[in-house]
Amino acid sequence: MSVLTVDELVQHFPIAGSKSVVRAVNGVSFSLDKGETLALVGESGSGKTTIGRCVLGLIEPTDGRIEYNGMALGGSRTIRSPELRGKLQLVFQEPAESLNPRMRVFEQIDEPLRALKVARADREKKVRQAARRVGLAEALLERYPAEISMGLQQRVGVARAMISDPEIVVLDEPTSALDPTARAEIIDLLIRIQREQGTAYLFISHDLSAVRHISHRIAVLYLGKIVEQGPSAKLFAQPSHPYSVALLSSVLLPNPRIRAGGRIRLAGEIPSPINLPPACYLAGRCPMVIDPCREKMPPVETVGEHHSVRCYRHAEVAALDKDFDSFGRFQAEADRILGAGIPASGTV
Ligand SMILES: Nc1ncnc2c1ncn2[C@@H]1O[C@H](COP(=O)(O)OP(=O)(O)OP(=O)(O)O)[C@@H](O)[C@H]1O
Ligand SMILES: [Mg+2]
Repeated sequence: MSVLTVDELVQHFPIAGSKSVVRAVNGVSFSLDKGETLALVGESGSGKTTIGRCVLGLIEPTDGRIEYNGMALGGSRTIRSPELRGKLQLVFQEPAESLNPRMRVFEQIDEPLRALKVARADREKKVRQAARRVGLAEALLERYPAEISMGLQQRVGVARAMISDPEIVVLDEPTSALDPTARAEIIDLLIRIQREQGTAYLFISHDLSAVRHISHRIAVLYLGKIVEQGPSAKLFAQPSHPYSVALLSSVLLPNPRIRAGGRIRLAGEIPSPINLPPACYLAGRCPMVIDPCREKMPPVETVGEHHSVRCYRHAEVAALDKDFDSFGRFQAEADRILGAGIPASGTV
């Protein structure tokens, strides 16, 4: 059964002094099962963080429905409400954002338990257990965040998020501030904890190798719409939307234009989220564009088990990667049209 169901979520932000709005999320639907990881991928500004914030109830959606175990979220039901406290958690990109510089590691991990009014003696035991579980030595519990490495700080962040035994954790770029070794360690840690606790993750990341490693399913976002959604292995092996190909092929194919690290924006005409066309949002950048793409938003079509896509030409796109040559040609064409920004280093 789904622990989380998001149905036609819309989030528009008002612009001060204007009647226009920023259309950050434009009708997003997905569900998340117990113990499952769904990755949200897409370029900067595609709405990933906004979706995460809506799920946690940190912002009130403009429209749509979010259900946690069949119960509507929103209004007073948020990450902070007593009813849900501890059941929904989050881990941020920068450990420093979630940790209080003036609190020792012990108190940081303990804080969610204090909020839940767990008895002091139990808390002490649980904090030590949680620290062990994430590989933090006892001695570190007395330190302040600034006295330990970023990798260890993020372990504190994970211990703190997991100590209340949450059902859903939103991980918003949890590894992007870390070096490659610490990154891999955190991903492995998250996978292990998920297996032990059955936690469901909404995993937001630009790091496609991490996405590939940790996620069961992937939703590809473009300008606040899911263009393709499906099992992780299937999406990497046979993406059916041109945007997914452009995005995910960066880890499939060697690309001479490697730009290691950092964030890279795809070049080309990205429509403004203030003024989106009533057509396919990718039409202006797509190497496979045909007239209908410019006229009407393609409907969601099911193309396999738990696999859906919004593209009139999905069958042709899916067929491309069976033949390495044509896939390579597509890549070259996509590169040419989308600009030189498709990275091969595994970050988007
Ligand atoms: N509070 C806000 N007010 C106005 N616009 C916002 C607000 N928060 C986000 N936006 C806009 O909504 C869109 C989606 O932003 P969001 O932060 O969700 O993207 P993202 O996919 O998380 O990007 P990144 O990969 O850079 O973190 C962007 O156009 C952004 O400028
Ligand atoms: Mg973000």
